[in-house]
Amino acid sequence: MKNVVLIGFMGVGKSSTGRMLANMLGFKFIDMDKAIEKKYSMTIPEMFKKYGEAYFREKEKEMCREVASKKSVVISTGGGTVKDPENVEILKRTGKIVCLAASVDSIMERTSARGTRPILDAMEDRRQGIIDLLAERQPMYAQADYTLDTTDLSPLQVSQDIISYM
Ligand code: S3P
Repeated sequence: MKNVVLIGFMGVGKSSTGRMLANMLGFKFIDMDKAIEKKYSMTIPEMFKKYGEAYFREKEKEMCREVASKKSVVISTGGGTVKDPENVEILKRTGKIVCLAASVDSIMERTSARGTRPILDAMEDRRQGIIDLLAERQPMYAQADYTLDTTDLSPLQVSQDIISYM
């Protein structure tokens, strides 16, 4: 079986689903953001603050290459990883791309903590900012092989759905 790559907006449940799905498949779980934080010994918000978004995107691209070379893994990407078409190409080669989606309300609720997502913290009007960014990124998320809405589903239900799709 090929790797599974989870893409989608912030707060749709990529990390919680990814961990559970990996467990169920007997695969290793890789959270790209966590791997970047570990490699550079700083949090993503710290990296944004210190070096800016472009620097983070460079490191994200390197991490994308690194994780794509692994076998039997579930990869959880960052919400903006697929902004770069080259990243999409790399990820498509390594496995099935599954996009998780969710309603704006549920994204608002699941991302309510401040200080963890610099992209959202920089928004003047968080709700409108999410709506606009979702619309902008929609074509990128639409490149997935399979999409499912996680709004009313638990990570277990989402994982079961993905397994039945595979
Ligand atoms: C980002 C999403 C974050 C993280 C970074 C940028 C984005 O990941 O990679 O803060 O541009 O959407 P999550 O989707 O895991 O929150």
